[in-house]
Amino acid sequence: YLPIPEIPRCLQQSTITKGLISYNEAQKLDRYGLAAHTCVWAPQPGASKFGELKAAVMMHLRFDGTFGFPGGLINFDEDVVEGLNREMNEEIGFGHIGCPVTWNDYYKTQVIHEKELVLHFFIKEVTLDQLQDLEKRTLLAPDFGKEVMGNVRVPLYTMENMYSGLPEFLNNRFIGTAKQDLLLALHHVKLLTETDIIEVMLKSQTLNL
Ligand code: GTP
Ligand code: MN
Ligand code: MN
Ligand code: MN
Ligand code: MN
Ligand code: MN
Repeated sequence: YLPIPEIPRCLQQSTITKGLISYNEAQKLDRYGLAAHTCVWAPQPGASKFGELKAAVMMHLRFDGTFGFPGGLINFDEDVVEGLNREMNEEIGFGHIGCPVTWNDYYKTQVIHEKELVLHFFIKEVTLDQLQDLEKRTLLAPDFGKEVMGNVRVPLYTMENMYSGLPEFLNNRFIGTAKQDLLLALHHVKLLTETDIIEVMLKSQTLNL
């Protein structure tokens, strides 16, 4: 049973809530296309000179210039998790670290009726060693330099100017709801509280003059 997750109040007005749907409801939209993406992250205690690190969270720069998560369209003959692991292998070489994404990592589903597309989103925790190993492999992935222009770690801290770090990162352009998905994932794994999200969104809207 895969329930709809609870969305923190500060994100309830955002575009994700609109298309949020249970996995079972999505099954009925069998004429729609299907895609799945994953937020891969590892706990990383300790500090850098810029602030507390907390975790290493992987995103990538896509071919279209926006930031997003690894994953992609599921083929008609594929199971969701099977297709997701194939895409993650093509885009970041995920298969090499030997811990495929499973239904235990499922987080939520949303539907974009205008595009006739169902999007599943997964959150995969790995160890920092696995993530560092993965980062090295991403350069050798078949779609690196084609679909994926570079893997990044998301800066999770906010620097003393109240702007640099995560607020600044959030001012990039993101594909679809990837920005809200990032904040949701960080909230789900308890890296950000609701208050943290409100603060970081306010700071990212502040002009850096
Ligand atoms: P090809 O291999 O070239 O077919 O691309 P792909 O299969 O890797 O597909 P892609 O990852 O671009 O995902 C398909 C669609 O899902 C995109 O056109 C976006 O609308 C949407 N999408 C892509 N990345 C994300 C993401 O990180 N979050 C969300 N919410 N949607 C995404
Ligand atoms: Mn330097
Ligand atoms: Mn792809
Ligand atoms: Mn993709
Ligand atoms: Mn594809
Ligand atoms: Mn492809």
